[in-house]
Amino acid sequence: MPGDNLLKDLTACPRCDKSPLSLKGDHYRCDACKVDFPSVDGIPWLFAEPEASIGEWRNRLHFALRQLANESQRTRTELTECEDGSLTAQRLKKHIEAMDEHRNNLRELLTPVDVQSSQASYESYLALRTRLPTDQGIATYYANIHRDWAWGDEENQVSLDLIKAIAGDEALGDTLVLGSGASRLAYDVHTQLDTDRTVAMDFNPLLMLVAKNVVEGKEVELYEFPIAPKSMNDFAVKRTLSAPKPADESFLLVLADAMRPPFGKGTFDTVITPWIIDIVNEDLRVQAVRINNLLRNGGRWINFGSLAFSHPDRSRCYSTEETVAIVESSGFSAPETKEETIPYMCSPASRHGRRETVFTFAAEKEANVKAPERYKALPDWIVTGKEPVPALESFRSQAMSTQIYSYIMSMIDGKRTIGDMAKILEQQKLMTKEEAIPAIRNFLTRMYDDSQKSSGF
Ligand SMILES: C[S@@+](CC[C@H](N)C(=O)[O-])C[C@H]1O[C@@H](n2cnc3c(N)ncnc32)[C@H](O)[C@@H]1O
Repeated sequence: MPGDNLLKDLTACPRCDKSPLSLKGDHYRCDACKVDFPSVDGIPWLFAEPEASIGEWRNRLHFALRQLANESQRTRTELTECEDGSLTAQRLKKHIEAMDEHRNNLRELLTPVDVQSSQASYESYLALRTRLPTDQGIATYYANIHRDWAWGDEENQVSLDLIKAIAGDEALGDTLVLGSGASRLAYDVHTQLDTDRTVAMDFNPLLMLVAKNVVEGKEVELYEFPIAPKSMNDFAVKRTLSAPKPADESFLLVLADAMRPPFGKGTFDTVITPWIIDIVNEDLRVQAVRINNLLRNGGRWINFGSLAFSHPDRSRCYSTEETVAIVESSGFSAPETKEETIPYMCSPASRHGRRETVFTFAAEKEANVKAPERYKALPDWIVTGKEPVPALESFRSQAMSTQIYSYIMSMIDGKRTIGDMAKILEQQKLMTKEEAIPAIRNFLTRMYDDSQKSSGF
């Protein structure tokens, strides 16, 4: 595979950290762990538990395809209720055609993920404590693909200019872009700034497979489904995705988890984190130390994007001031920072678009900091099954609501009203009728909303 020999000396095993991985034909292998890491359409799949993570993404692909099929079916039923030839009928017809074509396009594009053998051992996956965040599907960040490779240059140029401004004239050298998404920024950095090798890494195979095709000079046709279509023709817009020119072979794509980056210690001259530090489920303090470990002494961490931490622990939702302090206390120089308000995700076919005040910083690695512990996605009492399951307060209240919810579900018989159900809950002394009516209504609203959710495309 082109680029493989260029990547090899940067790699380390995401399970045992031994570096580098060895190259066996078309894929990488850790000789110490005796684990082979497959190649997905030529992109190294360097997850700690490769088989299981491929299985997870395959399930998510099938889930997305099923949702699209259901949506198409539901829309067909709506079409039968529309006046023949009316504007609405025309719009629905076009939308159905687009959804069906989209489903086929996705299936074809993601064939390399679908055909990988599936001998995933869920236990070993758990034992490694790596698993995908449950809120990330194939369609998460789907619009970014179109922003990166079809909407024109404005947003991409603004992002590159901000990186340029903070990076200054210094060469970037070997550069890692963590959470590179559909990878336009990584490509622009590689082709327009002074880099040696650029590794663009993300864990979403749809984004990376599109990136691979376009940076090789191919065109990819995919539908965009804008949030707020401007007109009849904008509900499903067929886009041709392409890069300005093919990237050279020192632009390298890797599929892996940012919390288990498969790279050796002190490997990179630059690590860029675009729009990612506030979305991963890991404390910024740990991320900062991990990034420190990936950099050589004197290397630079460049961050770009919003700071919108949304962790249930408020203490982990850091301000800019705390972010700067965390970077500085993780073996970096005081970061140089910059704030600018930029257009964000403004599709030409949509009335919806955002402006974001992005927070950019660059900080130099001044000292080695002890590597963080390996990321654990789940606690030991789930993984080993040998420790008592803690009687968490939240579990108790969830158990209570689950009982009541399953009781409400069992009362649905196509005849009872919310009032009838509330009366039964009162007779069972579970709650008063006055309490029961809003509780049942809220629960059913949520159930109803879930049944109406679209695929996210
Ligand atoms: C907000 S998007 C930003 C994408 C890209 N950097 C951009 O600016 O368009 C966040 C990206 O992080 C990726 N991501 C989230 N968690 C990750 C993880 N643990 N490992 C690798 N990628 C991750 C997502 O797939 C997504 O592409």
